[in-house]
Amino acid sequence: MMWVCGGVYVVVSSGLGWALWRAWRRRGADARGDGSVTRGMDGRLARLLPLAVGAIVLGLTMLITASFFADRALFATRISPALEVRVTGHQWWWRIQYRDPASGGWVETANELHLPQGQTVRLVLGAADVIHSFWVPNVAGKLDMIPGRTNVLDVTARRPGWFRGQCAEFCGLQHAHMALSVKVEAPAAFHSWLAAQKGPAVADSGRGAEVFADACAACHAIRGMAAGGRAGPDLTHVATRHTLAAGTLTMTRGNLQGWIAQPQAIKPGTAMPAIPLNPADADAVASYLMALR
Ligand code: CUA
Repeated sequence: MMWVCGGVYVVVSSGLGWALWRAWRRRGADARGDGSVTRGMDGRLARLLPLAVGAIVLGLTMLITASFFADRALFATRISPALEVRVTGHQWWWRIQYRDPASGGWVETANELHLPQGQTVRLVLGAADVIHSFWVPNVAGKLDMIPGRTNVLDVTARRPGWFRGQCAEFCGLQHAHMALSVKVEAPAAFHSWLAAQKGPAVADSGRGAEVFADACAACHAIRGMAAGGRAGPDLTHVATRHTLAAGTLTMTRGNLQGWIAQPQAIKPGTAMPAIPLNPADADAVASYLMALR
């Protein structure tokens, strides 16, 4: 594209320069009145015109064809990825499911995406309600997440560290509070993290577990416990995450209690309802969740 357009630019600029030079010479000759400059070129130029138009049409057709095939080649799935991860947009959080390389099953988490450094990961993007858009500018370009459709994005994260992702398609009231934390780490560290995520929750079965079963389990899952709700994020290892409510709050015990008590004040419109709990129960369920590591 660059070489063809560069060539066309040189040809057009030369033609313009030549025309200006001719006009300048003719004006000089007219002023002298000696008629020494012939005007026979105009007829020849008119005959060149169809040739020029033909060259332009042919050139544009070739560029369009080349661009079409380059585009297809870019999205062709030539590489076999080291890992497959399903990311599903919800109002307003991210469901994240890793394909377990050992068992072929899925390991579910939410709002925090871990990637092995230098390895190609296939992100299978979908949406549960409205259109969202996956965008982590430090890792990859953005790609829409569309209900009823699967978009595939192969990413290879090169630099280790924490990166911020953000939903990039307006998806309702809390679109701005739909952030994604992305951690790129060495493959060994990634795999030990995934192995830990795969395990069931290590939780006590005291008052906090009872409160959770009564008030939260209809919407939230905790693997290994009698809690299998699918409406909200999986909370099996929630205390290992760095944020709450899709990047809205940092993960601290105080923020967690505030979020449970007043989610509509923190993120108006969220599907999470306020849970009326007495202070002792609120304390117990927070301790229970903070122990889910
Ligand atoms: Cu999801 Cu904007």
